[in-house]
Amino acid sequence: MIRLHETVEVPRPIGEAFAYASDFANIEQWDPGVSGSVRLKDEPVGPGSRFRLDVDFGPFTTPMVYVVTLFEAPHRVVLEGQGDRIRAVDDIRFEGIPGGTRIDYTADLTFLGPSSLAEPFLRSALEGVGRRAVEGLKNALSREPKVPKASLVTTAIDHLVLPGLLRFTRLGYRLRKGSFAPLAVSLRGRTAVVTGATSGLGRAAAAGLARLGARVVLVGRDPRKAERAREEIRAATGNADLAVEVADLSLLSEVRALARRLLAKEKALHILVNNAGILENERRTTPEGLEVSLVTNLLAPYVLTRRLRTRLLASAPARVVNVVSGGMYLAGLGPAVFGGAEGAWDGTLAYARHKRALTVLTELWSDELFPHGVVVHAMHPGWAETPGVVRSLPAFHRLTRPFLRNAEEGADTIVWLAAAPEVALSSGGLWLDRERHPAAVLPGTAGSAEERKRFVEELERMTGEPSRAPRASRTSPKARTGSRHASRRRAAASGVLA
Ligand SMILES: NC(=O)c1ccc[n+]([C@@H]2O[C@H](COP(=O)([O-])OP(=O)(O)OC[C@H]3O[C@@H](n4cnc5c(N)ncnc54)[C@H](OP(=O)(O)O)[C@@H]3O)[C@@H](O)[C@H]2O)c1
Repeated sequence: MIRLHETVEVPRPIGEAFAYASDFANIEQWDPGVSGSVRLKDEPVGPGSRFRLDVDFGPFTTPMVYVVTLFEAPHRVVLEGQGDRIRAVDDIRFEGIPGGTRIDYTADLTFLGPSSLAEPFLRSALEGVGRRAVEGLKNALSREPKVPKASLVTTAIDHLVLPGLLRFTRLGYRLRKGSFAPLAVSLRGRTAVVTGATSGLGRAAAAGLARLGARVVLVGRDPRKAERAREEIRAATGNADLAVEVADLSLLSEVRALARRLLAKEKALHILVNNAGILENERRTTPEGLEVSLVTNLLAPYVLTRRLRTRLLASAPARVVNVVSGGMYLAGLGPAVFGGAEGAWDGTLAYARHKRALTVLTELWSDELFPHGVVVHAMHPGWAETPGVVRSLPAFHRLTRPFLRNAEEGADTIVWLAAAPEVALSSGGLWLDRERHPAAVLPGTAGSAEERKRFVEELERMTGEPSRAPRASRTSPKARTGSRHASRRRAAASGVLA
């Protein structure tokens, strides 16, 4: 048997250090010797939880299954691992110290069968592996956030359009995933609202936020589906701080009523995910006389965000995440965004225009809110297999199915934008797989100043909702650049959001 033993100190409270390290689904984020890690059953970590790890031994990768055999939160966790060639017992102890936590990590490794003959020769190599792993855990729990920037290579590939499209696939996600920094944050004490939380990406994002400890308000149009989502997310994450709000977001009256209820019930609001969206293959008009997808994709997030704006500001640091689509790269911001003349209906083009418009709103809201501690970003999920894609794009789904991501992969960047400390350092960006991308690559699609002005005027006219706060309630330009907001941003970025 080889015993590895390391002790490190991290600047995080004991509860957070324990929650992150005891969840071996996170281990691929911090142990360079593990290339994959998943929880085998979607349930809170506790005695009996099982994880599958892909452990790298030189050129070989061997699968191992780890089981939690002792769980004394937040002081000690023991996990026993079994693979074809190796058995492991990881005993991790946590002790609160001034300013953080001391982690004492012991791993006992036993080689099985013929591999055991190599054990004496592997000792020093394995000691190095153990040191790097525990160092990785320390870094994950101590990391200084850095402002993420769009790389020149990414921008160039996006401008070539076709190679950019390859990134939308599951392969694109898997290639990027290797460079993701650990997401070792707690959202305990933060409240998130997720629209479209009953299915696909919104449901996966709501579960991801709940897993990080946030209170999550699930917005859905079907009360039974919403209750089912709440129950399943509670069972999967162990987080019972979940609320349900029912609203049909294709009706502006219901969006306004939703905003009123949220303002009445949620004293603080830190994260708003405008995710609900729909691609309509036939033109349908609501009882309010507006086209269904225009309201759901654009007018609803506009009205909801405007109405929740003061609560987000009062709760700052806060974040808004708008879910758009790669399809918007093909669309501009002309008057056609709002539909206009009756004629042949092209639902895909209408959808792309709505998403372009939501991307432009992201930039406009960011200019207004970022100086006051509210970060606003847009993301597109790539191509993910969800009920929405199956329903609206059946031919695309049949053709691309082997290349589609799953909902969790598509939603990963929503959760990251809502939670990662480094996200608070910038605003107004468009993201795919935790990487910043240009918002427009084709000439004339970004929306000129004149187009933006007209677009906002039309939004105000259609919804009756002013795009800016009344002058008297705006903060003075001096206060905007003042140190209060800069220090809020620094606070938001310094590890945990709270
Ligand atoms: N999947 C992709 O590849 C992909 C690619 C680019 C962008 N997106 C965007 O990602 C977001 C989520 O899409 P998805 O693929 O996860 O689709 P989805 O599975 O159809 O989920 C859409 C969610 O929005 C809700 N919703 C739709 N219309 C609504 C309304 N009138 N009122 C209230 N809720 C409504 C749906 O409720 P129900 O459960 O009741 O239907 C569902 O919860 C959308 O904004 C979509 O445009 C997806």
